Order: sequence, then structure tokens, then C-alpha cells
Amino acid sequence: MINFNLQLPVHLFFGKDAHKNIASQIPAGAKVLMTYGGGSIKTNGVYQKVQSALEGFEVVEFGGIEANPEYETLLRALKIIKEQEITFILAVGGGSVIDGTKFLSSAALFDGDTPWDILSKGIRTEVGMPFGTVLTLPATGSEMNSGAVISRKELNQKRPMGGPGLFPKFSICDPSVVASLPERQLANGIVDAFTHVMEQYMTYPTSATLQDRISEGILATLMEIAPKVMADPSDYDTAANFMWCCNMALNGIIQKGVPTDWSIHALGHEITALYGIDHARTLAIVLPSMYRYKADKKGAKLAQFSQRVLELSGSEAELATAAVDAIENFFHSLDVPTTLSAYPAMDAEEVAPEKIVQNLEKIRTIKLGEHGDILREDALSVLQSAY
Ligand code: NZQ
Ligand code: ZN
Repeated sequence: MINFNLQLPVHLFFGKDAHKNIASQIPAGAKVLMTYGGGSIKTNGVYQKVQSALEGFEVVEFGGIEANPEYETLLRALKIIKEQEITFILAVGGGSVIDGTKFLSSAALFDGDTPWDILSKGIRTEVGMPFGTVLTLPATGSEMNSGAVISRKELNQKRPMGGPGLFPKFSICDPSVVASLPERQLANGIVDAFTHVMEQYMTYPTSATLQDRISEGILATLMEIAPKVMADPSDYDTAANFMWCCNMALNGIIQKGVPTDWSIHALGHEITALYGIDHARTLAIVLPSMYRYKADKKGAKLAQFSQRVLELSGSEAELATAAVDAIENFFHSLDVPTTLSAYPAMDAEEVAPEKIVQNLEKIRTIKLGEHGDILREDALSVLQSAY
């Protein structure tokens, strides 16, 4: 097992009415900026619950953080933080609002030339302005980790950031919020969490027995509950399992002591940056094609997934093929396409894969995957097969 260190500092409140804990977690006398998205919280009751929980605090609101949080929007919020001398931020939303808030937490205390440096120069955040989250969409695990991804449309870029200063102080996870999610977001959440586990599990066999079993448990649970979540998102216990799977998929535990891949996310972020396709949907495009391309190196682990999660038997090659087919069928069962060409705004077959690769090359050298052996030409082949 690879050496590791693990710090899980987020105080998680999980369950019905968890928002009642908000007030006790914010320092007395704090001036709070409450950040949120396009307004779903105003129609599903979350806004009112948070408002009543914040009674007694001085609160300033900033709404309008969009999906794939946009740098320009966040700069407007940053101005408010500085002008109004905000001391604590409360993010109320999905991964985008939480990620946007992480950027604000970092930028509020950043003393470099421009906050874009945090993203463009990959500056880690050691200390940020304290913030909490009220999660409204299980998917990213952002409520429990210290990473964020920020978009800047004028540059066609979507860049990651992170650091130990960006863990939320607390997160409120009430599975009741799942009831108001549209089918598209439910499916996105399932696909994103499933792929997060895969990026940390689908590499090569190691001695990390427990990490494998935990990952397989999350994958099996997601496959088991997915039809139930889609059919009835208001079923509380199913929603609770969904929310806990998404959290466990990216709270840091299953990545410890094992090699990780993350090539699917690297290419997926470029597809979103160029074509605006939802994050999870870009992963569904890349994953099957990537695993077929890397079947030689990932064969043993694909076969293990088939045996343990799908409960199939056969030769290693048969099991590996069956694994990718089953994952693709799983995505299709959620009405999530697995090709670039499924999207009307996509460029032509000869253009799109090259554009995606070029966009990634602008920000980093292409050397992806657990072996660092996915180079430019490999990434291009994967995307061409995914067209
Ligand atoms: O903006 P509102 O009106 O709130 O609507 C949102 C948004 O349109 C809606 N929504 C959220 N909760 C709802 C709801 N609608 C009804 N009822 C509710 N309870 O859902 C839409 C999508 O929200 P968004 O926050 O964008 O979705 P998600 O949580 O999937 O976040 C995606 C973002 O997270 C990043 C992605 O790249 C993308 O930018 N990721 C963050 C990660 C992290 N920090 O660890 C890891 C991931 O791999 C990912 O990259
Ligand atoms: Zn993701």
C-alpha cells in the first residue's frame, strides 16, 4: 500500500432537518455572505430553512452562481466580500455553488496580483476565509473535500484549484433536497459519483484490499439504487443512500494508498470548457472509450469489477469487455449518452477531438492516467472513438 496522510476536517451533519445545526457552527458575530445558484432553493424550501437558521446573523446574499461557476460572476461576489467586510461564507447549492465559494474563500485572503493566478499558476490555498455548505445536489463530493473547478468562458478554460485551506468548516446534507431534483441532475449525480470511484479504483491490482472493497461497495450501491432514485427521488431512504455514496466517492478515503487515474476528468473538463456539456455527461462520453483503449493495462481490474460488482464469470478478457459494456448500458439506462456526436452543438468528427486535445495542451502537458502513459495521440484516439 502506498504511504498516505489523511485529514478529514469537515464536520458533517447528515439527515432530516440537519440545517438546524447551522447557527451553532458559525462564529458568533460573523458577517455572513450566503451564496447560491439560479434560484432552485427559492422554490424547494431550502432558502426559507437557511434563512430561519441564520436568524440573528448579519447576512448578505449573492445569488446567480451558474453551473460550471464562472470566474467573472465570482469576481462580483469577491467585490461584495471586500466592500462589506464579510467574515464567513455559507454556500447553499450543488457542486457549482460550493466550488465557486471555495474560490471566494481563497481569493478573499489572496494577496497576489490577480485572483486568476490561483487557477492559472496552480497556487494551493493553505488558509481561506472560513465557509460552510448546505448541499442541495448529491454528485461531486465538494461538500467534503478541498477541491474546486472554476470556468472562465472568455478563455474557454475550466481549471482546478485546491489546498488544505479549502475544506468546508461544516456541511449540511439533508437527503430531502433530492426530491426536487430534475431527472437530468439525478442522472448527472449518479454518473459523476460512479466515475469518481472509477478514477480511484479502475487502475491495476494492488495490495489495498479494503480500498477495493469500499469502492466496489459504492459502485454496487449506486447501480442498485439508481433506478429507484430515478423513479422516485422523494423516497427518503433511497435519497440518503445516494447522497452518502456521492460523499464517500470523493471525500478522500478511497483514494488513500492507491494509484489513481483521473484521465477521464481531465478530458471531460475540456469538453465542458469548449461545448458547455454538463460535467457528468462529459465523463460518460470519455469513460467507455478510455477503458476500451486501455483494456490491456486495466484488464485485470475490469475483470475484478465484473466478478465482484456485476457477479459475472468468464475469462479475464471476456470479463473486461463485459465490464465496459455494462457501464455503458448503465449510463444509457439513465438516459445519459456516451458519444460526442449525441450533442447537437458538437463540431464535426474531424474537428472536435483535435480541438479538445489542443485546449488541454494550452494548460498542461498531456501525460495522463495511473501510468502517465496517455499522451497526446492516445487522448486523441480515445476522443475519436468516442465521437
Ligand atoms: O442553480 P440552481 O437554480 O440552484 O440549479 C441547479 C443547477 O441548475 C440545480 N439544482 C441544484 N440543487 C437542486 C437543483 N435543482 C432542483 N433541486 C435541487 N435541490 O442543478 C443544476 C446543476 O447544479 P451544479 O451545482 O452545477 O451541479 P453539480 O453538483 O453536478 O456540480 C457540477 C460542478 O462541480 C464540478 C464540476 O466540474 C461542475 O463545475 N466538480 C467539482 C468537484 C469537486 N469540487 O470535488 C469534483 C467533480 O468532479 C466536478 O469536477
Ligand atoms: Zn466529477
